[in-house]
Parts: sequence; structure tokens; C-alpha cells
Amino acid sequence: MTYQETYAAAAADPEAFWLEAAKGIDWMRAPERAFTEGSGAYGRWFEGATCNTCYNAVDRHVAAGRGDQPAIIYDSPVTDTKRTLTYAELLDEVATLGAVLQDMGLGQGDRVIIYMPMVPEALVAMLACARIGAVHSVVFGGFAAVELATRIDDAGAKAVISASCGIEPGRIIDYMSLLSEAIDIAQNKIKTCLILERDVHECELVEGRDINWAEAMAAARAAGKRTECAEVKATDPAYILYTSGTTGQPKGVVRDTGGHMVALNWSMRNIYGVTPGEVFWAASDVGWVVGHSYICYAPLLAGCTTLVFEGKPIGTPDAGTFWRVIEDHDVRVFFTAPTAFRAIRGQDPQGEFVKKYDLSGLRTLFLAGERSDPTTLAWAEAQLGVPVIDHWWQTETGWAISAIPMGIEALPVKHGSPGVPMPGYDVQVLDDAGHPVPNGTLGNIVVKLPLPPSCLPTLWDADARFHSSYLAEFPGYYATSDAGILDEDGYLHIMARTDDIINVAGHRLSTGAMEEVLSHHDAVAECAVVGKADELKGQLPLGFFVLKSGVTQAPDEIAAELVKKVRHDIGAVAAFKLAVCVKRLPKTRSGKVLRATMQKIADAEDFKMPAAIDDPAILDEIKAALDAKGLIG
Ligand code: COA
Ligand code: AMP
Repeated sequence: MTYQETYAAAAADPEAFWLEAAKGIDWMRAPERAFTEGSGAYGRWFEGATCNTCYNAVDRHVAAGRGDQPAIIYDSPVTDTKRTLTYAELLDEVATLGAVLQDMGLGQGDRVIIYMPMVPEALVAMLACARIGAVHSVVFGGFAAVELATRIDDAGAKAVISASCGIEPGRIIDYMSLLSEAIDIAQNKIKTCLILERDVHECELVEGRDINWAEAMAAARAAGKRTECAEVKATDPAYILYTSGTTGQPKGVVRDTGGHMVALNWSMRNIYGVTPGEVFWAASDVGWVVGHSYICYAPLLAGCTTLVFEGKPIGTPDAGTFWRVIEDHDVRVFFTAPTAFRAIRGQDPQGEFVKKYDLSGLRTLFLAGERSDPTTLAWAEAQLGVPVIDHWWQTETGWAISAIPMGIEALPVKHGSPGVPMPGYDVQVLDDAGHPVPNGTLGNIVVKLPLPPSCLPTLWDADARFHSSYLAEFPGYYATSDAGILDEDGYLHIMARTDDIINVAGHRLSTGAMEEVLSHHDAVAECAVVGKADELKGQLPLGFFVLKSGVTQAPDEIAAELVKKVRHDIGAVAAFKLAVCVKRLPKTRSGKVLRATMQKIADAEDFKMPAAIDDPAILDEIKAALDAKGLIG
């Protein structure tokens, strides 16, 4: 079948299409129907069916004779370690850890925070939660204690699984001090933590609270404790993943169990074009949705070998590390963010490192997380000599909304476009009043309800926020908060966010959350944060602040305090390093801060004087303040 035929089949008879896709999953009680209208916020997928994600990701492959096949390859240039876990070994790990978690008092429906670096145990922890029916919420290691505490509270977590440290080039991240600070701040008092001690940096465990991972596993093994897979409903939450929203309070995206497995399993063969036994590598982090879907779940559901890479595209030790990993482990399909390629190209523009390695096994490179700029994409194509596929998705969806489905049809690639809508997604472009715009016209990108399997059914403990954030603006549609166009060939072009989210090195961050941090500083009367264009990271946050009257402290000193505060409250990942003191913020007559205009001034872009501006002279003040700091362009 061609792409057009496949897309049309899913649109014409979604029941038949998704029930067929559901045959790729082993159910405990098989679904009798795919979609139940009138259930949940916009209908539910595979209601009535029961299953277990860990069983599908691990046990069934061992049962089918794949026990000796590598399931996880760990490659860590920062610790100089390589390790392989076969499916049989992975089964032993998850069955044992499942028993340890049960001994910790955890069971079906309990929430567990996972705060771990890129080690195989992070995946083992996720899968062991799935095995016992617990709901994990992984927190990215680059988030600081306050963000961790917010998630502990919002999820109502019963326990935390963590490690003694993470490793960033040149420094050790002491997770234990961050964890203890978070537990102190959180209202919801965590009583039990399971801690993986790493050789590179051991830590002191808190008596009465912390359990040593290795010791607990050894004790469980000695006692012959293992756990089988719990039977959960297809509509039960598999996990919660917090993502940036428009306020400081992150949104807890809920992923269901059955729909998640069906869509991810389908995507491996049809979008990524991989078959069981092949090595699939997503160079991301388990703290992000890409890591959930394509480091942990999808490759394992599909019986592939997944790669856990603990390193960076450059500096660990050099710009050839990606190519070394691809050669060493015979990677067939590779997935990363464009910013990683910009970093590599910056250090190795002629591709000298690329030439050193045998990349002949590589079939396709997929890029996502931010817009792929055509220059980077063309460089990657020229260097690697394989198709480079930009594809577009969100934490909310868990898999691609648009792509080139390499397993179905290698449609032509258009530079600057993340491809065509995937089956199940009825993507449309509307004007602000909700009317469809002609092809080629910029507008709000929406998906007509229902969303396909794997997309969020709601936000954790926040049905009303789910409705107001995604469904209220365009009734009958899911609002993606991305603006773009659908061209005459049906390809999408994603141009910008329509909210205050910025994209920094492929990481999704809320400027609203940063503004909340700045506004809590005693000397700050008001503030605004915008995304300034950056050659490497795509965007960088740039803060403007106005001092309260009577403040005598030097503005530069305050700026330094603000930078420190964002790092402490949100985390290093916010990459907040630019803060400029201004006399006033430009506003409309109704008091709305003109952030887009400030961003254009910082980027030295042309802009139209906003008609409703209160005092145009303020824009000159902004320009002068940025100029004085060398922050224009
Ligand atoms: N734990 C703790 N700190 C972390 C961290 C983690 N897991 N990940 C990043 N940080 C820190 C970094 O050390 C850095 O700190 P610094 O300000 O002290 O230097 C800060 O957060 C910003 O990190 P990052 O934005 O990643 O920038 P970088 O300069 O360290 O690296 C790139 C730049 C382009 C090499 C890097 O961003 C990269 O590899 N990006 C790929 C993005 C990606 O995979 N995105 C996932 C979506 S698909
Ligand atoms: P996240 O939820 O962290 O995956 O971020 C999702 C957002 O990142 C999207 O809403 C887009 O704004 C942006 N994004 C992700 N992939 C792409 C892409 N391929 N092209 C353009 N923007 C993208």
C-alpha cells in the first residue's frame, strides 16, 4: 500500500485500521473494538481490553526465542563503559526489580518518580513499574530540586527511584542533594527512595528512607523473589510525563497503556522502517518524550535492540562520537535533534570525523524536537549519504504527527518540512476564528478529534486544564499550539509556537515559568522573557527586568542573581544566561507586554510598529539596553 492508500484506509475505517495494528500486541483480554466514543474527554482507545506493557516489551520476546538477542546496549563515553543486556537478562532484571518495588509497598496505580541519568537501570526502572502496574513519571536530570518537588507533589508520588549521580562533561551532578532538597520542599512527603549507587560517585544513603538498589536486588534474588506481569486496563495510565505549559505549573501528560503500545509498535515498522533484531538508536534522554517512546518503549515493543548513550554529540570526546557509536553497534536507524547536528557541524564542518567510520549499515536519520533548518539537514544528507527525515511531534502525542513513513513509502523529502500527516491524524490549519485557511496559508495547526492511539487522554488530575489548554480554543479539534502551513502537496511546515513555549537545544521550555522565577526577586518590579535566536541551540531565553523604585543594587549584580535563581529553581537545562535591565517594558494600551516585538528587536528582525502600542519610545530604550550589552542579532 502507498502512503496515500494507508492514510485513506485509517481515515475511512479507523476501527478496522487500529484493530489490525492492535494484532501487533499480545493482549491479556483482546480488544473487541478500537475506539469508544463518548468515553473520556474525546473517546478512549481499546476500552475493555487488558494488557501489560512490560510483557510486550520483554517477556514475549524471550518466549518467542529472542532471549539471547541484545535488548539494551549501554555506551557511555563519560564513564568509558560499554555493556549489553540481552532480552533474557532484561527479563531477569525487571522481574526482580518488580519484586523489590512490591516489597517497597508499591502496586497497581501507585505513582513513582524516576530521576535517573542515562544508564540501563533507568529503562529497567520504567519497565519494572509497568510490570507491576505502577505509573512512572520520569524527571529529566537537568531539572533542579524545585521542579522535581513540583512533580513529586502533582503526581502524588509514593516513592522515588534515583541514582547517586549524573555526569555532565567536566562535572558530576550530585542527584542525592537535589533529591533531598526536593523531598524537603515537597508537600507530599516521600518515605521511600531506591538509589542506584554509581562507582563514579557514591553517596550517603539516608537511613530509614533510602534503599540501596544493588543490595535490594541481591536480596530479592537470594530469596528467589520475582514478579509476574500485572493485568492492567488498556485505558489505565502507563506513565505521566510533565512538560512545559504556559504557566510555571508543568502539565502532566498522561499516556494510556493499550493505545500507546499499538501506536508505537506500528510506528517502528511503518515510520522508521525497522524490523525485529535491528539496532535502533535515539540519542536523546529518557527524561524527554523522545526517550520514553524511542529509547525505551517502541524499540523494545518491536523486538529491536535499543541504545542507551550517556554522552554528548561533541566533547565526549569529540565530534566523531555519534559515528563511532553507529559503527560499533551496527546502528540501522538513528534519531536525534537538529541541535546535535549543528553542534557537530560547528566543530567538524568538513566532516573529517564522519570519514573515519564505517557508516554503511545506517539506513536513515530521523530528526525531531525542533525545526530542522535546511542548512543543517542538507549537511547531514551530504555527510551521511542516507535519507534525512524531519518529523514533527509533541510530548502530548507520544509519536509523530507528521513524517515521511519510510516503512510504507519513501516519499520525496522537502527541506524545511517535517513531512505529511501520519495515519490517524486529521491535521488542519485554521485561522484565529476557527475557519480553515487555504493551502499555503499560515494558521493554527490543529488535529480534528479524535486523536489517534497513544495521544494524551487527559492531563494528570487536571481534566479541566486539559480541556482549556487543548480543546476549548477550536471546538472539535486538538490545538497543537504550533503555527504553520499545509502546502499544495499535503506537506506540513511548522513555523512557530503560538504560546510562550521556546525551544532551546531541542528542549521545550516555558518563558512563563522563567518569568515567575524572575518576578519573585525582591528588586524586580516586572519582567518578560523571550526566545532569542541562537545558531547552536535554536533559541536562548533572554530576560528583561524593570527595577522597583528605590532599588540601589547594581543592575548587573541583580542580573547575575536572576541567572543563578533560574538555574536553582528550574535547572541548568533552562540555559538562562541573558538578563537585561530596562527602564520600562513596551506594552499595548490595554497593558499586554509586547514580547514578540522585543524578540524581533533582539534578533535584529524587521517589525511593524504594533498599532496598539502605548509608548513607541520604549522600543528605542529596549534597543539601546540590548545594544549596550551586545545582544542584538
Ligand atoms: N543533567 C544535568 N544537567 C544537564 C543535563 C542533565 N541530564 N543535561 C544538560 N544539562 C546541563 C548542561 O550541563 C548545561 O549546563 P551548563 O549551563 O553548566 O553548561 C545546561 O544544562 C544546558 O544544557 P544543553 O542545552 O544540553 O547545552 P550544552 O551546551 O551542554 O550542549 C548540545 C549543547 C547541543 C550539545 C546539547 O544540547 C545536545 O546534545 N542537544 C541534543 C538535544 C536533545 O537530545 N534533545 C532531546 C529532544 S529529541
Ligand atoms: P516536545 O513536547 O518537547 O516534544 O516539544 C514539542 C514542540 O517542539 C512542538 O510543539 C514544536 O513546537 C517543536 N517541534 C518538535 N519537532 C519539531 C519539528 N520536527 N519541526 C518543528 N518543530 C518541532
